[in-house]
Amino acid sequence: MRKERLDKVLSNMGIGTRKEVKEMIKAGMVTINGNTIKSADYKVNVEEDEIICGGQRVRYREFVYLMMNKPSGMVSSTDDPRDSTVIELLDDYYKNFRPFPVGRLDKDTEGLLLITNDGKLAHDLLSPKNKVDKTYFATIEGVLEDEHVEAFEKGILLEDGYNTLPAVLRIISSGVISAAEITIQEGKYHQVKRMMGALGMRVSYLKRLRMGPIPLDKILEPGQYRELTEDEINLLLNR
Ligand code: URA
Repeated sequence: MRKERLDKVLSNMGIGTRKEVKEMIKAGMVTINGNTIKSADYKVNVEEDEIICGGQRVRYREFVYLMMNKPSGMVSSTDDPRDSTVIELLDDYYKNFRPFPVGRLDKDTEGLLLITNDGKLAHDLLSPKNKVDKTYFATIEGVLEDEHVEAFEKGILLEDGYNTLPAVLRIISSGVISAAEITIQEGKYHQVKRMMGALGMRVSYLKRLRMGPIPLDKILEPGQYRELTEDEINLLLNR
């Protein structure tokens, strides 16, 4: 049974700041299982107690699951001494849950970034043994040919001696600047850029389109985010 301070639960659920909810509690605006509770440090059973504040039922939730279209120029971490972080783009309501990005996209990479406070889910999605597909759209300085597709199929030897798992390169267009979709199952540092680098080509634009069963919602502009739907959460949890 999980018990938490009443003022903490109310402020975490976005009812108000800690100070504001303390005043609401003192003013007798909060009932628990029908009884008015006037002490902010009352311990609530968040799974079972019925909390009503100002006549409205307060529904406790432990986890948030968001998808963001990460913009270029921001880092995917919770805090950074130099750069702005993707977490800064979130409303205070979501920040209350102390969410973090599931893995990292480079500062100049755009696209699908899952953000949650569910550590177990994040761990499952990132664990190399689970081989979760990550699909990217890339523009590449260089002519893409079938031999590159084959190299990806075999796995690519990176400059540090690491041999990547087999990956999929789907050529969309080929020329001085080429376009491709790339699917990898790992998440090594700069992995797509280094795989292309090992073939003598430079990635000039990179956007993640999909992670496991979840595609990036096309309506999200860079910097926008939304909560995952129930169906999307279930797809992730029951992979
Ligand atoms: N591979 C990269 O090189 N960069 C990313 O941001 C993601 C995958």
